Amino acid sequence: MKLNVVVLAALAVLTCAPWRVCSEKSEEHRLLVNMTLVRNASTVGALCLDGSLPAYHLHRGFGAGAKNWLLQFEGGGWCNDVESCLDRAETRRGSTRYMTKLEVFSGILSNNASLNPDFYNWNRVKLRYCDGASFAGDAIFDNGTSLLYFRGQRIWQAIIHDLLPKGLGMARKALLSGCSAGGLASFLHCDNFTKYLPANASVKCLSDAGFFLDARDISLNHTMRSFYKDLVSLQCFFPQYALRFIQTPFFILNSAYDVFQFHHGLVPPSADPHGHWNHCKLNPAACDANQTAILQGFRRDMIVSLFSFFECSERGGMYINSCFAHCQSESQDTWFGIDSPRIHNKTIAQAVGDWYFSRRVTKEIDCAYPCDTTCHNLIP
Ligand SMILES: *[C@@H]1O[C@H](CO)[C@@H](O)[C@H](O)[C@H]1NC(C)=O
Ligand SMILES: *[C@@H]1O[C@H](CO)[C@@H](O)[C@H](O)[C@H]1NC(C)=O
Ligand SMILES: *[C@@H]1O[C@H](CO)[C@@H](O)[C@H](O)[C@H]1NC(C)=O
Ligand SMILES: *[C@@H]1O[C@H](CO)[C@@H](O)[C@H](O)[C@H]1NC(C)=O
Ligand SMILES: *[C@@H]1O[C@H](CO)[C@@H](O)[C@H](O)[C@H]1NC(C)=O
Ligand SMILES: *[C@@H]1O[C@H](CO)[C@@H](O)[C@H](O)[C@H]1NC(C)=O
Ligand SMILES: *[C@@H]1O[C@H](CO)[C@@H](O)[C@H](O)[C@H]1NC(C)=O
Ligand SMILES: *[C@@H]1O[C@H](CO)[C@@H](O)[C@H](O)[C@H]1NC(C)=O
Ligand SMILES: *[C@@H]1O[C@H](CO)[C@@H](O)[C@H](O)[C@H]1NC(C)=O
Repeated sequence: MKLNVVVLAALAVLTCAPWRVCSEKSEEHRLLVNMTLVRNASTVGALCLDGSLPAYHLHRGFGAGAKNWLLQFEGGGWCNDVESCLDRAETRRGSTRYMTKLEVFSGILSNNASLNPDFYNWNRVKLRYCDGASFAGDAIFDNGTSLLYFRGQRIWQAIIHDLLPKGLGMARKALLSGCSAGGLASFLHCDNFTKYLPANASVKCLSDAGFFLDARDISLNHTMRSFYKDLVSLQCFFPQYALRFIQTPFFILNSAYDVFQFHHGLVPPSADPHGHWNHCKLNPAACDANQTAILQGFRRDMIVSLFSFFECSERGGMYINSCFAHCQSESQDTWFGIDSPRIHNKTIAQAVGDWYFSRRVTKEIDCAYPCDTTCHNLIP
């Protein structure tokens, strides 16, 4: 299964689906940050799928934020077999050779206080994703004609070791974040991250659209589970099972109707060969009553699997809204703006800031679709 290809197609739809407002409003204020290659990474075998050097983008903090660090894992699907990983190795998802050298820093990565009130003056780092497995693999495929590096774990370590002497090692506050495949990486590396920082530092982690449910699809198949099994041949990969083992304070940001999970986990093309769901996938208002009921069931499953976190995690935070979205912390529109999504009149940026700085307990669960009118800008 070439899910990574599907994922890229899905993300393209996401940025410009007909029911989405596709705007580049703040084009003129875009902050572009240069790529830093980790030059000595090859000495520890920390290489992208194709053998290229791993990389990150660092924008320095200043003022009161000069000693605080935000690390953001880039997302972008996965590859789960040799064929799909070979394809990926020749794209920006598997090689720094094909990546843009200048990255836009927006949303949680913005340096503008009026766009990112709590983290704008921190050191902000985007970790580029080029291993195909959420920075988690450690293997090599080599059959004589084809060579692939599955070195996500080493890439993570090499980037951390590069950043420690740049100030990360003396951080006062830190937040490890990430979206989608990067949100999963944030779950997986959260406690490991904490161990590299001073014992008196305040360290927390955030997963955006990384809460992948171990749910059945509409044909009752375990599509997501078998995909991950191929990916890591590891059973307990799902955040819903890993969550209770994480010691570091954690924030879960997710839509209850996460578009990626909807399109690839709940209703994968294999489970809907006649395309009965095509209209509903592109426009939630076009879903019939049965389809809506299935989506409500998915939301219920997600909330149930978060229940003990909601009830028992004293230092945890959550924001489960009901917008059809995937990744809401990186784009300005959804992170913090006049018409950004809100729960109880609180934007995602405010909720994450309130939780990080312990201003108040932040565990927000939205009412079920279609009640949330702050999502109106996503649907015609
Ligand atoms: C920060 O964002 C605000 C709101 O978009 C904008 O008016 C202002 O010019 C921006 N400041 C900088 C320095 O880009
Ligand atoms: C980005 O970094 C490269 C290598 O250090 C340098 O050659 C290039 O001029 C930089 N680009 C910008 C826009 O700063
Ligand atoms: C190595 O693997 C690739 C990808 O599966 C395949 O196309 C190729 O034929 C294999 N080479 C050998 C020598 O088995
Ligand atoms: C690479 O260099 C950085 C400093 O530039 C150092 O902190 C790091 O430990 C080195 N990594 C390896 C694998 O040698
Ligand atoms: C942590 O301890 C070091 C060394 O005692 C001190 O310089 C630093 O200010 C402390 N950091 C915090 C966040 O308290
Ligand atoms: C972090 O994880 C890596 C890889 O699993 C491990 O080698 C390393 O020892 C861990 N670091 C710490 C400080 O525990
Ligand atoms: C369900 O999974 C089985 C085993 O992986 C597969 O053979 C079957 O085609 C799947 N059915 C659908 C509708 O995807
Ligand atoms: C909805 O489900 C019911 C019961 O399974 C079925 O009778 C009905 O035809 C379905 N409606 C649509 C629009 O698919
Ligand atoms: C919602 O918050 C905004 C500021 O973010 C405020 O201006 C507005 O009055 C609030 N609305 C309600 C109903 O509390």
